[in-house]
Amino acid sequence: MAPIALADTLPKTPADVKAKAATTGSESALKAALSAAQARFEAANPKSQKQHEVAVKSLPGGNTRSLLHTSPFPLSMKCGKGPYVFDEDGHKYLDFVGELTAGIYGHSHPVIREAIVSTFDHVGLNLGSTIVQEERHAALIRQRFNLESIRFTNSGTEATMHALAAARRFTSHRKVVVFNGGYHGAVFSFGSGVAPNNVDLDDWVLGKYNDITSARNAIEGTRGLAAVLVEGMQGAGGCIPATQEFMLAVQESAKKVGAVFILDEVMTSRLAPGGLQSILGLKPDMTTFGKYLGGGFAFGAFGGRADIMSVYDPRNKDALAHSGTFNNNTMTMHAGYAGLSKVLTPEVNVEFNAMGDVFLEKLKRITKGTKCCFTGRGAVLAVHFTHQGAQDIRCVEEVDEDWDLKDLFWFEMLEEGYWITRRGSIALILETPQEELDRFVDCVGAFLEKHRSIVATSA
Ligand SMILES: Cc1ncc(COP(=O)(O)O)c(C=O)c1O
Repeated sequence: MAPIALADTLPKTPADVKAKAATTGSESALKAALSAAQARFEAANPKSQKQHEVAVKSLPGGNTRSLLHTSPFPLSMKCGKGPYVFDEDGHKYLDFVGELTAGIYGHSHPVIREAIVSTFDHVGLNLGSTIVQEERHAALIRQRFNLESIRFTNSGTEATMHALAAARRFTSHRKVVVFNGGYHGAVFSFGSGVAPNNVDLDDWVLGKYNDITSARNAIEGTRGLAAVLVEGMQGAGGCIPATQEFMLAVQESAKKVGAVFILDEVMTSRLAPGGLQSILGLKPDMTTFGKYLGGGFAFGAFGGRADIMSVYDPRNKDALAHSGTFNNNTMTMHAGYAGLSKVLTPEVNVEFNAMGDVFLEKLKRITKGTKCCFTGRGAVLAVHFTHQGAQDIRCVEEVDEDWDLKDLFWFEMLEEGYWITRRGSIALILETPQEELDRFVDCVGAFLEKHRSIVATSA
């Protein structure tokens, strides 16, 4: 990048001087609002603060899951009931975090409770054997998502690992095309401001999301390509939906060069009864799953074409090993099956995501002309505050987040009783009351009005 000459940054005309003064004015107004909000947060949450001071003695930063760290200290939640969570200082929040899409059933769904209690009483915890229930859960997921074969893991991260291992064995190649801003698990994150933590850096080829030319060049220009791994909506990257044309082009290019097309539906499978792939008209070679499909317990799965999945068939002498003590644990198999078969039926799924779409539309309308925008699909969305006031975000390269503004929003929505991830993602819980969604739209509107001088764009 060419160095910026100092003269370029200096105001040249009276209009420039005025604009610069306005920017500086709004920057200091933001800083003042943010430090006042933070002071109120500290005063309101002494028990969480104390808990953080204790936790740092045992855990680096007091934390065992980086995403949950928030400055000056994280809130410590004590319990949850239905769609609400309650912190150690006694505040009640509507749970918009929804455990990053895993918590779709809320905190005390009677069907999940019944599955857990009866599994404990009549089945036992870990039987150290194959069980009928793992076949039942596998058959249900296979049928919902049109898979020939499936295997379970303990997390979405493991699902990615094993899907990639299968693709590498099947193709006898190693390289994998992924997209900037993509997140496929703890050691598979690509850009979006998070420090990379990949296990085998040299094997990744990065394409630009929602850019067909870039995708084609990456896929068709890489020798020794085993797989293309992509989300139909970048979840951790900020709920950025892919266009259908982009996804179809990725699928076509992968097929053209004989690479395994892996669709990561760890977050997006809940967006339609047959997953996001059914909306976008995709037929991936393999799909990865996770989150809510375990009924609230640790879960992951990968599946798809039988010929690819057969690399794990233990009846074959040279089969790949696929291990995991808890892969078929009784709680996950029973709770996951109960949730999907009795609660999240196809009809409920459609209605729920339609509710999310309406919610998202209202939020998009109310944020027009401001630095705030909401992105997403169905009942999974995210808030952004960008310096340039972007309203239609297509890839992480286009997002210049104003983190101070986002932090201010987070502090003030907490005060309104909404528990949101600090990075701004929202995953609705099934039983979220409509009045709470309407009230949130009003709160966002009031926030933008209150801070108009900071959030308004000149457009
Ligand atoms: C798209 C995607 N893939 C994979 C994962 C990893 O899942 P897990 O956290 O269960 O390892 C996530 C987690 O958020 C995800 O969003």
